[in-house]
Amino acid sequence: MRFFVDTADIAAIRELHELGMVDGVTTNPSLILKSGRDIAEVTREICDLVPGPVSAEVIASDAEGMIREGKHLAEIAPNVTVKVPLTWDGLKACKALTDDGHMVNVTLCFSPAQAILAAKAGATFISPFIGRLDDIGLDGMELIADIRQIYDNYGYETNLLAASIRSVNHVIECARVGADVITAPPSVIKAMASHVLTDKGLDLFNADWAKTGQKIGA
Ligand code: E4P
Repeated sequence: MRFFVDTADIAAIRELHELGMVDGVTTNPSLILKSGRDIAEVTREICDLVPGPVSAEVIASDAEGMIREGKHLAEIAPNVTVKVPLTWDGLKACKALTDDGHMVNVTLCFSPAQAILAAKAGATFISPFIGRLDDIGLDGMELIADIRQIYDNYGYETNLLAASIRSVNHVIECARVGADVITAPPSVIKAMASHVLTDKGLDLFNADWAKTGQKIGA
């Protein structure tokens, strides 16, 4: 399973990248706002740091505008993935941009029907949002499992990129059902290293070690 990090925070990306945890990056307008940076400038910096796909999102709502913005974003670096929303115009832009050789991430996917259309339009990645479905009392993981099954049934090559991940359990469930990629905030990726029994075990080992009076390498 590939790990994308869902942030435009360069320091956070660098920390995870140095540990080999980053296969790509996703951003969106809210994350660009949070970074306080210019989209072209921060996207270029992320692309210089991470060789994998780096998603940068268009803002236009019509296909022509999305294609124009997408081409502009794609000029930033060869690993830019143009992110378009799952609307009818977004699908048109997806088809045009992928036909033109660009990677496209179709975002804001909330149903298997939408995911089928994105695959038909040649999307490189489909981003179904788990957390936002959970937020309204629906089952985000069910959507991931449904898309996995449908894509496998027909051999669609679009990568299933599970997004809006809010917890370690979301990551584990995505791995169980076979998402190709997860994109998660740095805090969730770092939380994967924690376990209460690891902390407890370490406390016990440290206490016992102190009683031995020994030192390693001294
Ligand atoms: C990634 O592509 C999405 O924009 C992101 O995962 C959304 O996450 P959120 O629902 O926690 O904002």
